[in-house]
Amino acid sequence: MEKINGFEISEQERSKRIINIKIEDEILEKLIFPFNKFNITALEYKPFTRFTLAKSLDDLTSNELSKLMNKILRDRETGCFIIGPKNISSKIDDIFLVKLSTAISHLIGIPNHDSMVGKYYARFFVKHEDKSDSYLRKAYINMDLHTDGTYVKEVTDWLLMSKLEEKNVKGGETTMLHLDDWEHCKNLFDDLVGRQNFFWGSPKSKNIDYKVEHPIFSTDSKGKPQISYIDQFPEPKNMEQGTFLQKLSDGLEESKNKVTVKLSKSSSIIANNHFWLHGRRPFKENNDLSKEIIRIRGKFFT
Ligand SMILES: [Fe+2]
Repeated sequence: MEKINGFEISEQERSKRIINIKIEDEILEKLIFPFNKFNITALEYKPFTRFTLAKSLDDLTSNELSKLMNKILRDRETGCFIIGPKNISSKIDDIFLVKLSTAISHLIGIPNHDSMVGKYYARFFVKHEDKSDSYLRKAYINMDLHTDGTYVKEVTDWLLMSKLEEKNVKGGETTMLHLDDWEHCKNLFDDLVGRQNFFWGSPKSKNIDYKVEHPIFSTDSKGKPQISYIDQFPEPKNMEQGTFLQKLSDGLEESKNKVTVKLSKSSSIIANNHFWLHGRRPFKENNDLSKEIIRIRGKFFT
């Protein structure tokens, strides 16, 4: 395993494909000053300031951190890491975490515009009650395994999810599945229906006024399967596509090789969106349940 001063790097207990990166206090201390240079409005309005933040983080590691993160994300054998403070302190508040998530993402690539909120990142709550039109905020329903960006024109190479805050939370763990660990991958990848174009729409809250058309499975430069799939948004054109989607959904949900990750507060999970699927287990019911998340999705630098 690589070594970077000020970071603790190890394999995740449940999967050697996921790398844990813990940031030690000395690094966090050194970030406070450069992070204070910009407020959130500046970050939102002036894209170059995001790169300044990212550089201040990477400079503390002689650029070793960006190298490591990009290597993990692009490597088919891994493709996922969890990064966060080793110790939680009062200095690590929501503003600091938005900045840290911004810095991390800008060492990987360019975020896509998140139409749900009209910014390069989205902050949102999952609470007891919900009146929205997608599974994202439905606390007590399993969010099935999926990839992000299925219904937008932009390429979504990676996604970042950070846990900002949680109160009265039990359950709601993140589930992850790597295509190469999936028992049914070959079977479904070999089925030519998966290479047909499907229509993908989205509910109102996503603020996307067009539909896209693309297949579920594609291949990477080495011929390995890649997937772009979510259960809610494909609009099957016929019985053949309908039954394929059902088979795919069942095959994913019954997989024994899902990795359940309990993301600790202030931590972020970043995954390659072409060969990792992600989901969320239901939360335990509680009237005062509150969890706040930040998400950023984007493309790799080329
Ligand atoms: Fe997602």
